[in-house]
Amino acid sequence: MDSGGRENFGSRAAVIMAMAGSSIGLGNIWRFPYMAGEYGGAAFIVIYILCSFFLSLPIFFSEAVIGRRSRSNAIGAMKRLAPGSAWTVLGYLSVITPVIIVSYYSVVGGWSVDYLLKSFSLDFGQFVPTGPKVLLFNTVFLAVSAAIVALGVKGGIEKFSKFSIPLLFVLIVVILVYSVRMPGAGKGTEYLLRPDFSKVTPRTFAFALGQSFYSLSLGMGIIITYSSYVHKEENLMVSGVGTAVADLMFAILAGFAIMPAVFSAGIKPDAGPGLIFETLPFVFTRMGEASPLVGTAVAVMFFLTIIVAAMTSSISLLEVGVAYFVEEKKMKRPLACIVVFAIAWLLGLSSVFSQKAFGLTDAFSSNILLTVGALLVVLFVGWKMKKEDVRDEITDGGTRPGNGKLFPVVYFLIRYLAPVAVLVIFFSNFFL
Ligand code: PHE
Repeated sequence: MDSGGRENFGSRAAVIMAMAGSSIGLGNIWRFPYMAGEYGGAAFIVIYILCSFFLSLPIFFSEAVIGRRSRSNAIGAMKRLAPGSAWTVLGYLSVITPVIIVSYYSVVGGWSVDYLLKSFSLDFGQFVPTGPKVLLFNTVFLAVSAAIVALGVKGGIEKFSKFSIPLLFVLIVVILVYSVRMPGAGKGTEYLLRPDFSKVTPRTFAFALGQSFYSLSLGMGIIITYSSYVHKEENLMVSGVGTAVADLMFAILAGFAIMPAVFSAGIKPDAGPGLIFETLPFVFTRMGEASPLVGTAVAVMFFLTIIVAAMTSSISLLEVGVAYFVEEKKMKRPLACIVVFAIAWLLGLSSVFSQKAFGLTDAFSSNILLTVGALLVVLFVGWKMKKEDVRDEITDGGTRPGNGKLFPVVYFLIRYLAPVAVLVIFFSNFFL
């Protein structure tokens, strides 16, 4: 960290690792595999890939353009790019949403710490989602995440992501190799892959799109903030594509790590907390009956995966607010981290003590705040910013002819297709 200037990520790999760290999280582990299975197998996966590349990625690029062009936090970005206009609302929304999300996201982080400890005895007991013990673990999880953010963009976020992303891939592949070799595992692979076009309805598209949005951490200032630490010379499009590919690969690997084991144990799959904290512990206990060592090893690796995946996402959620306090309120980074930690912790008390509040916070932020944020982002970049400025960022200052050739397509997607798609997801929440 230096006194006056802003930090940057050190390399392209660092940019992709940090962004992938934000993207890879609970969405990949507890929602994607279930959705793929329930909404048409391979057919869903193909739709998901198309949504990710043609709709989510343009939104990702839009946020990246805002971030790198302004080189500031989400609120500062709007103040710089559209001074004195109502667009600052987008900035405020982009800083508020992640604080709300991290308040419940860290509750899941806390449950996972608890379950990691339980894995050693394979005695999981009943899942208790609320209460004082949850508060304790939630506090630990959030404090560790905030401490990493306090170490700085390079010394904290970059370092942690560069170590965790490869670790996550190794862990999930090891679990996968074990899982697909279990007796009866074939049913799980079939669940994920068998294409079923009868399940493909308009709803499927809305779900696929909504999921790819959430999974890429769009619509809440994260990509704006992270991109503000990306060098001018860095290839923004390649960073975006790299992040999307890593995110997608991890979601698919998670599916093949989880579903075969679930089917092998003869249980019906689930999504959300039920999958991770009820279904899978049962699977691990069954494994442990056959071989305690294997059951424990797989359970430990699995909960470690969840903790690390959730932590890199939480870090990105915290950084949005921290960057704001550091730059707009001139706070020192450690103090900014304490402030954001405190706000998130206080907000999180509702999710710690009430499952209903947990569900409402998740639904409100993922379905409403995030979609509104994404819509405003594409409208801003597509209709308010000067086309030449957008082109300048997408082509890294005119230095990338390849990106220049793709620019008309990207710009079209940002201007027309993305806003329509976001509106579709938004209304599908109410009508489908
Ligand atoms: N992308 C993360 C996931 O898939 C979740 C997340 C959403 C993280 C929004 C940050 C912001 O779990």
